[in-house]
Amino acid sequence: MNNNLDGRLLPHFEYNYAMSLTLTNKDQEMLDGTHGRAVQMAMSILVQMADVYNADELLDISAAHIDSTIYIGESGMEYAERLAELGARVVVPTTLNVSGLDEHHWQEWPVPNEWASNAHRQMLAYQSMGAVPTWTCAPYQTVYRPVFGQQISWGESNAIVFANSVIGARTERYPDLLDICCAITGRAPAAGLHLTENRAGEILLNLVDIPSELEEADVFYPVLGHLVGKLAGDRIPVILGLGTNPTSDQHKAFGAASATSGQVALYHMVGITPEATTLETAFQGKTPRFSIDITMADLISAKHELTTDYGSMLDMVALGCPHFSLDEFSNLVQLIEGKNKNPAVQMQITSNRDMIKQAKSLGYYDKLARFGAKFTVDTCILATPMLGPEIKTLMTNSGKYAYYTPGLLGKNIVFGSLEDCVASAVSGRVVNDESKWKI
Ligand code: F3S
Repeated sequence: MNNNLDGRLLPHFEYNYAMSLTLTNKDQEMLDGTHGRAVQMAMSILVQMADVYNADELLDISAAHIDSTIYIGESGMEYAERLAELGARVVVPTTLNVSGLDEHHWQEWPVPNEWASNAHRQMLAYQSMGAVPTWTCAPYQTVYRPVFGQQISWGESNAIVFANSVIGARTERYPDLLDICCAITGRAPAAGLHLTENRAGEILLNLVDIPSELEEADVFYPVLGHLVGKLAGDRIPVILGLGTNPTSDQHKAFGAASATSGQVALYHMVGITPEATTLETAFQGKTPRFSIDITMADLISAKHELTTDYGSMLDMVALGCPHFSLDEFSNLVQLIEGKNKNPAVQMQITSNRDMIKQAKSLGYYDKLARFGAKFTVDTCILATPMLGPEIKTLMTNSGKYAYYTPGLLGKNIVFGSLEDCVASAVSGRVVNDESKWKI
């Protein structure tokens, strides 16, 4: 242990890394401590993780998104504070994922004071490193959206799959704690989805006889994503036969669901996503080893899996997973026009501070507030303990929320379209239109 200037003990950084890993002179300097203790700590973690990734070298990244911001216990907070105390600064534009605290509204909910205090400390630690306080799980909806081919280190599964698939940027599935090491050093293991040869499709999923009316509907995408995640697991799926070009929000819903029920970090949609202009391109000229047809029966069955409660009772409608976009605010405002929310049901909309600000400036926020909606800012109902025991059944249009809610929150969940969610919030009981889901 070494003494630092304020008298506290600092650890000696032990590191072992594979002899096959080639470091540049600058990498070696960072590892030796020439660039400071924080950089040394980050690089010591990075070189050991490079071994896990089977990387022969590190590569430069030009952006990072930090998922370690979610407060899940004191160890994560202490890790962030340790880096901050050592003088850590990010060296690439770095966005922050949701935090464990809605600084604006947490006192309206049963969030324990100690939780709030620790989550806030963790937020401050990451901000002190120079990261941008975006506090969103949808960084692709900000001005920090990457571009095609850009090498980045992003955490948060829905952000990763969107960046790789829809934009064609390149990131591995970075876990918490490693993402910030990449941001501090500007380096990442040269492995996995950073490399062209690892981005070829691995399983062909062929949509068969799906009605175009369903393919155009928002509700189709979280269901398809849920099914694709289950079929693909950690393989790269190639979806063939989609007759429409999904919107950004439809991609968002699809990717988030596929990264939740499976570990999808990259998908190709033939003729739609940038690395899949043709079927051959999607597989980089290789013959698909696995091929599965997806039928309406499969989709109906997948949709049913996203609901755990087929009763009519409802306590809350939860929207904004991943964080609500401006288009989603606009759609919702049109759906509530002239309607009143039933007081027995809460409606919670989740997004980040910048999107809420834009929604305010366009008048969406006030209309929704008058309807009776409430807003969760910079966090989400899965990342902060905001729901009391009186909330027993939630309804959502998100495949990801639907998948996680029973296990993580111990609540019942009903999945439906945004239209269904609004109709339910108005009637006070579950309304679920199944007319699009017939064989
Ligand atoms: Fe975002 Fe929370 Fe969903 S972090 S993706 S709103 S579970």
